[in-house]
Amino acid sequence: MLPVTTALEALRRARRIAVFTGAGMSAESGIPTFRDRMTGLWAQTDPMEVATPQAFRADPQWVWDWHVHVAAAVTLARPNPGHRAIAALATGGRRVDVITQNIDGLHQAAGSGGVVELHGNLFRLKPFIDEEAAFAAAEAPVICGVCDGYAAWDDCDPYATREDFAELRLAPGPVPRCPGCGALLRPDVVWFNEMLDPAVLDAAMAAVDACDVLLCIGSSLEVEPAASLPWRALRRGVPVLEINPQPTALSAQALSLRGRAAEILPELLASIAGR
Ligand code: OAD
Repeated sequence: MLPVTTALEALRRARRIAVFTGAGMSAESGIPTFRDRMTGLWAQTDPMEVATPQAFRADPQWVWDWHVHVAAAVTLARPNPGHRAIAALATGGRRVDVITQNIDGLHQAAGSGGVVELHGNLFRLKPFIDEEAAFAAAEAPVICGVCDGYAAWDDCDPYATREDFAELRLAPGPVPRCPGCGALLRPDVVWFNEMLDPAVLDAAMAAVDACDVLLCIGSSLEVEPAASLPWRALRRGVPVLEINPQPTALSAQALSLRGRAAEILPELLASIAGR
């Protein structure tokens, strides 16, 4: 394990800090994690049934309703002292790049700017693109000018605009359709069996490649390619500090602080904030 004094001194001196977060970051805001054995979302529901394009294709309303159910807890959540401590860290010429796997928007709500959302955001919608049908189709798809999806045109409004689309939100009720082309809409999150947006992943890698120190907070590091980001920093010889009540595969090579993000972060970051 990285010696405590080395890690803390590196954090104090750092001009550019990458903060990589997972579901444990928001646990004390009341949002369940995914893999905690008793309370995790995936302890209760098989992700293949609710968080894959195949599941949406088979039963869009069920997948939509599940996301509405999850969003109920997320909508009530407020940033916790850990989120606020990270936002407050970006002072005095110090740059902080927040890279999160979370889809809850709580880093932004706490005041962090330029957050890289690797897995999207629950409160944005996008058209459902049926990749299998698109690959099988003989013709190139027609792109809808309103939602940028592969146009379906079965419920088309010729006067619809992008503003009409931007107003639509995740909410109880039937799965909404693009007001322009009628395509089914879905939350703008990354499901299993889907690729990350390459531009978003590039932004995350660039931030990791430029940092002097990386903080890894509240992630089991089970999902690629996000999970490789802390190792990318380690390979460059950058000190990594981990905050998590449980050990992970990273713990042996990081300064591992065992505990809750909302408790450890304010204390840890206050000690360096003024420098
Ligand atoms: P996980 O649920 O896999 O891991 C949560 C981690 O947070 C565990 O290591 C816990 O020990 C830790 N933890 C729990 N409470 C904590 C606290 N109060 N403070 C700090 N840490 C705490 O969540 P992720 O690693 O974020 O993907 O999961 C990665 C991805 O898997 C998610 O983004 C999601 C999921 O499938 C998508 O939605 C695409």
